[in-house]
Parts: sequence; structure tokens; C-alpha cells
Amino acid sequence: MDDFSTRADFDRLAAPYQQTISGTQGRLVARKVLFDWSQTPLEWIPQQPFASHLINQINLILPAGELWFCRLFNQALPLITDAKLRDDVQQFVRQEGMHAQAHVGVIESYLKQHGVDTLRNTRIMEFLFDVVLADQPFGRKLPRMLQRRWLLFRLGIVASVEHMTCVLGRYALENKQWDAAGADPSLVDLIRWHGAEEIEHRSVAFDLYRHLGGRYASRFYLTAITFPLVFGLWMDGAAHLMQQDPQFAADKPRAWRPWFWRQWKQAQQAGLLPSVGWLLAKEMPFLNPWYDPLYEASTEDAMAYLMKSPAAAAGAAARQTVRAEDRSPFEGEALGAGPKGSVCG
Ligand SMILES: [Fe+2]
Ligand SMILES: [Fe+2]
Repeated sequence: MDDFSTRADFDRLAAPYQQTISGTQGRLVARKVLFDWSQTPLEWIPQQPFASHLINQINLILPAGELWFCRLFNQALPLITDAKLRDDVQQFVRQEGMHAQAHVGVIESYLKQHGVDTLRNTRIMEFLFDVVLADQPFGRKLPRMLQRRWLLFRLGIVASVEHMTCVLGRYALENKQWDAAGADPSLVDLIRWHGAEEIEHRSVAFDLYRHLGGRYASRFYLTAITFPLVFGLWMDGAAHLMQQDPQFAADKPRAWRPWFWRQWKQAQQAGLLPSVGWLLAKEMPFLNPWYDPLYEASTEDAMAYLMKSPAAAAGAAARQTVRAEDRSPFEGEALGAGPKGSVCG
């Protein structure tokens, strides 16, 4: 136990946390989660196949991207000189690792169980993160003088994407229409648990990018790259999921066809998806010189959801059980560990 018996002791222990550039409130917590996908239908929002597939594509986008975040942040760790920020980054990595693991669980235990081809979409993501945005892009070793710049550029990409995930996380927490439409509680919980942790750690990537030299002007080209890229991959992948649905056979779903956007508008009017205009408008604060992720969402709202998330409660209970029974060899299985999950541990 630390001894706080004198003021000097307290000051010594608190010193690393007193002058920090970290905007994260308190210490981030990496929560284990446990989901049961056995009862979740493919059309998980009843009578809403378009919105169901569109949101399901998120599960195919995220794992490769989040594991890439983890690898980049681990690389950046030795460059961080701020103790609080270093701890934020380590906890961020643990949270993102768990997010990736949970979405791999969705792919394996839910989408594939319904006969959905996920490989085409996940391969695109792996090509993007493991080849194009790799340490050695397209297998080419960068000159030493460019390696740090390449790392900083990619950390800027993460900061820009993390702004989007915070915005979407807030949308998920505030959406009431999924519940009113009778959406599957496990999938709603997955999205809200993930969204709440995105809100909780919303400052970390931005703080890290600025700490290592990221400049204001770069936010313009980062947004110009990430928004169309994320949006394009999301729509294209969702259309591929819809192409596999027999009820859409006559519609030939493609992201560039007017049918796709009419369907989107209907789902948006039903309150099941945000509008494209809303998504674009929510990018604007990131371009503001006084942007601070802290003001984009409420940590209290995120915590309130995390306190009642069924998957987080089940994960905590499973961990307690494993500890009590001291059966460490089963820990990964009990907590739904997926392929590559340990990369971020
Ligand atoms: Fe995440
Ligand atoms: Fe995140």
C-alpha cells in the first residue's frame, strides 16, 4: 500500500498527474464483456433489413482498424513524455483490443452462423491496414528520416477517426428508436458499450497526436482522407451484405444506386440511422482551432451506460468466477477471446 501519511508523500505520488496535457477525466478502465449471440436474428431490427445490414457492416470494418490503432499506439509509447498520457494510451490500447475482440466474436458467432460471407469485406480492411497503412507501406521500407513522419501521419488518421467514433458513440447512446423498434438487445448493447467507451477515451488519440507534434492545419487533410474513406468502405461493405439477402435480390444493392440512398432516407426518417448531412456536420468541430474532444460528448452519460451494460456486467461476473475458481487456462475462452485479440494485451 502507498503511504499517504504526509503531504510530502501525497505530492510525490501525485506529481506526475498534476501537470499533464491529458484531457481524459480520471483513469480509463478496460472492461471485459461477454455477449450471447445465439438468439440474435440477422435482421436484428425487425422489418428493417437495410438498417440491420448497414449497422452490421461496422462489425467487419472495426477489428482490423482497431488492432492497427493498438500497434501504432504501442509504437508511440516510448515517445510519450507525459505520465498521465502514457497511462491513457496503455488503457486505450486495452479498450480497443477488447472492442476488436468483441466484433470478431460477432463475425464468428453471429454473422457466419447465419451464412453471411464476411471474408470479402474483412480482406479489404486487412489490405488497408496491413498493407497500405503498414509500417512498411506496400512492403517498402521507408528511409529513417520518414519513419517518424509516417508514424505521426497515421496517428493523425487515428485522431480523426476517433472523432467520428465519439460522434457515433454519442448517437448510439442517445438513439431511442432502436429500442422502440424492438431491436435485438445484444446488438444494441454491443453498439452502446463500444460507443460509451469511445466517448470515455475520446481525448486520447487527439492528445497523443498533438503531443508528438501534430499541427492544426493537418486536420483538414486528415478529415479529407478519413471521412470519404470510412464512409465509402462502410457503404460498399454494407451493400455487399445486402446483396446476400434474398429479399433484396431484385434491388441489386450497390452503394452508387439511387435505391440505396432512398432506403437510407427511409431508415433515417424512422430514426434508425443518422442522416448523411448530420454526419458531415459533425465533422466540422474537428476543424475548429479550439476543438477539444472533451466537449463532443459527456463522460457521465458514457459511465451511466457502462454501469448498466449487460455485456459488461456479464464480463465482470465471468472474470470473478474465473478468479474464484483459479482456472486461468480458461480465461480467454470464458471472456470470448477471438483471433488476434492478444495482440493488444
Ligand atoms: Fe473502439
Ligand atoms: Fe476508440
